[in-house]
Amino acid sequence: MRVLGIETTCDETAAAIVALRPTGGGDILANEVMSQIAEHESFGGVVPEIAARAHIDVLDRLIARALEDSKLSLNDLDGIAGAAGPGLIGGVIVGLTMAKALALASGKPFIAVNHLEGHALTARLTDNLAFPYLLLLVSGGHTQLVAVKGVGDYRRLGSTVDDAVGEAFDKVAKMLGLGYPGGPRVEREAAKGNPSRYNFPRPMAGRAKPDFSFSGLKTAVRLEADRLAPLSGTDVTDLCASFQAAVVDTLVDRLRAGLRRFSEEIGPCSSLVVAGGVAANGAIRRALQRFCAESGLKLSVPPPALCTDNGAMIAWAGIERLRLGLTDDLSFPARPRWPLDADGEAAHHGKA
Ligand code: KG4
Ligand code: ZN
Repeated sequence: MRVLGIETTCDETAAAIVALRPTGGGDILANEVMSQIAEHESFGGVVPEIAARAHIDVLDRLIARALEDSKLSLNDLDGIAGAAGPGLIGGVIVGLTMAKALALASGKPFIAVNHLEGHALTARLTDNLAFPYLLLLVSGGHTQLVAVKGVGDYRRLGSTVDDAVGEAFDKVAKMLGLGYPGGPRVEREAAKGNPSRYNFPRPMAGRAKPDFSFSGLKTAVRLEADRLAPLSGTDVTDLCASFQAAVVDTLVDRLRAGLRRFSEEIGPCSSLVVAGGVAANGAIRRALQRFCAESGLKLSVPPPALCTDNGAMIAWAGIERLRLGLTDDLSFPARPRWPLDADGEAAHHGKA
C-alpha cells in the first residue's frame, strides 16, 4: 500500500510518499519539504496570506519531485491523503484542494487527515509502536498531552490554555531581539547562560489536570527584560537559560500529571512519544529521557525531520486510515479548528 501525503497547514509545504511495510511500520519513498522561513522572517512570524500564496507557488513542483524520487506515477498509488486541518485556513485549502483534485483525476481514494493525527501516529511509521501510548505534542501551534488508543481513537488529557510552548520560545526570542524562528536561537543563548539567575514561574505546576499555560511565563520574561534594559549579552543568555529551565520543569511536571491521568483512565502506559518542532530542543530531550528512565517508560522521539511538519506523517496517517477502510468524500471541508478527541472524530464522520 502506497499513499501520497500533502501538508500545507502552516509554513511548511510538503509532499511525501510512504509505503506500508509487510511487517508493520512504513518506508518513506520520498519526502519533500519546503520551509517558508525566508518569506516570514522579516515579519517575525508566520503571515497567513503569504503562507497560502507560497504553498500555491511550490506545491505542484514538490509533488512532481516526490513522484520522481520514488519512481512512481499517480497510477501506482493506493490513495491520496491531504491534511484538512487544523491550521491556517488559506494554506489548508491549497493542500486539500490539490489532494482532492489528484484523487479525482486518478480515481484513487481520498483521505482527509487531521494534522495532529499525523503527529500522533508518526511513531508507528518509524518504530511500529503498539497502542496505547502517551503523546506529548509540542510545536509552534500546539501543546497537548494525548492518550493515543488507536487510529481515530484519541483522548486529549490536557492542552495549553493560552500560548503554545513553541510560540512562547518565538515570543521570547522576538522580545530579546534574537529573530525568527525563535526556538533554536533561544536554545543557543540558553546554553551559555545561568538557568538559576531568574526564578521564573512554572505555570500550572502541581495541578492534577495536565493542562499547560505559557503566557504568564512569557510575560515574566518580558517584565524582567524591561527592568534590565538595555540588555547586556549576559542578561540575554541568562534570561534565555532561566526561561528554558522554567519550560523544562513545567513540561516534566505536566507530563507527570498526564501519566497519572493515563493510568487512571486508560491503564498502564509503556511508551511516551514526543512530536512537534520543540522536541528538537536538547535540554527538553534530556529532561524527557530522565523522566522516562525514572518512570519506566520507553521514549520515542521521531528524528527531527519527522518531528516538525512534513508530508510523510500525513501519508502515514492516510495509510493507517485507508487500511481500516476509512476514506473520505471529496466534499470534506477544510477545518481551521479540529480537535483530536471525540468531538472532532464525530465531526470527521459527519455526525456533528
Ligand atoms: O512543529 P513545528 O515545525 O511547526 C508547527 O508549529 O507546527 O514547530 C515549530 C516550533 C517553533 O515555535 C520553533 O520555535 C520551535 O518549534 N522550535 C524550538 C526549537 N526548534 C524549533 N523550540 C525550542 N528549541 C528548539 N531547538
Ligand atoms: Zn505540526
